Amino acid sequence: MKVKIVKDETSLRVFKALKRGVVSGKDLSKELNVSRTAVWKAIEKIKSAGYIVRGVRGKGYVLISSPEFPVYDIAEMCECEEFYFFDVVDSTNTFLKRLLSEKKVRSVAIALKQTAGRGRLGREWISDYGGLYFSTCFPLRDIGIGIEELPRITLTAGVAVCKAIREIAPDCTIKWPNDIMLREKKVSGILCELCGETEEPWVIVGVGVNVKNEVPNAANLKEYGVEVADVCKLVILKLKECLKKDWRDIRREWLELTDMIGKRVRINSSGKTYTGVVRGIDERGALILESNGETVIIFSGDCFYER
Ligand code: BTN
Repeated sequence: MKVKIVKDETSLRVFKALKRGVVSGKDLSKELNVSRTAVWKAIEKIKSAGYIVRGVRGKGYVLISSPEFPVYDIAEMCECEEFYFFDVVDSTNTFLKRLLSEKKVRSVAIALKQTAGRGRLGREWISDYGGLYFSTCFPLRDIGIGIEELPRITLTAGVAVCKAIREIAPDCTIKWPNDIMLREKKVSGILCELCGETEEPWVIVGVGVNVKNEVPNAANLKEYGVEVADVCKLVILKLKECLKKDWRDIRREWLELTDMIGKRVRINSSGKTYTGVVRGIDERGALILESNGETVIIFSGDCFYER
């Protein structure tokens, strides 16, 4: 299944009206200033996304039930120009990359399964049914940051996703730069990719969360009995909220959400290994490590706890 919803399209407006209660096709066509056929087509599109809509004789349409993944409810929450939902896709990040090479539109892509999910540092992201695979893209100017400040987005997305998952699993934490950990195992990862020309850079933020799916040596949210859609809604809400925040507040929140401070770690960064005690993150989002009496600043890499 693939659903594409463009901002303000008739089906989205019809959906909003259906949520108010029974609506007549005639009233809807008047209210939305579209033909009766357009209303009917919109209803058919909503039905094809798994919603059950019935026609009540002499009254109009009524929304009976929503599917397990309520695409329209979720599309409504996103502040994007184009919204894509897939049953299966190669990778939601790769899909948005392809889309951006054709047209620059602020978009969201969500899939129930990925066949070529990508992680940080060229790794694979195991993406079976039961997990959340979410990506969004927007120009950097939307959040007023420059290309050299990409780590800020990485950390901001980490704060957003950690806060979203904390609503379900209150003991999750962030491990630098933005792995979300649940009892020392990774439950969620974020892949931020730059796209487009340097004059007008766009970013793709991809979020993977293990919800009901099992991944070797990783955590999931199974014990909490949540649905993928619940997690998706929380991630969208928190991302919207955090991307509007001031970087200083995000940095403070990041420091509150991590349990790394004062811990001994090993960092693999560009072929080098550093060990030391984490002291914080600086104003650029780089990790501050105290290593053999010296302060080392690390901009990117892989981080492991030392015992
Ligand atoms: C990591 O290695 O920690 C980052 C994992 C990011 C996975 C998400 S799932 C949605 C989006 N599509 C991808 O192919 N990757 C990201």
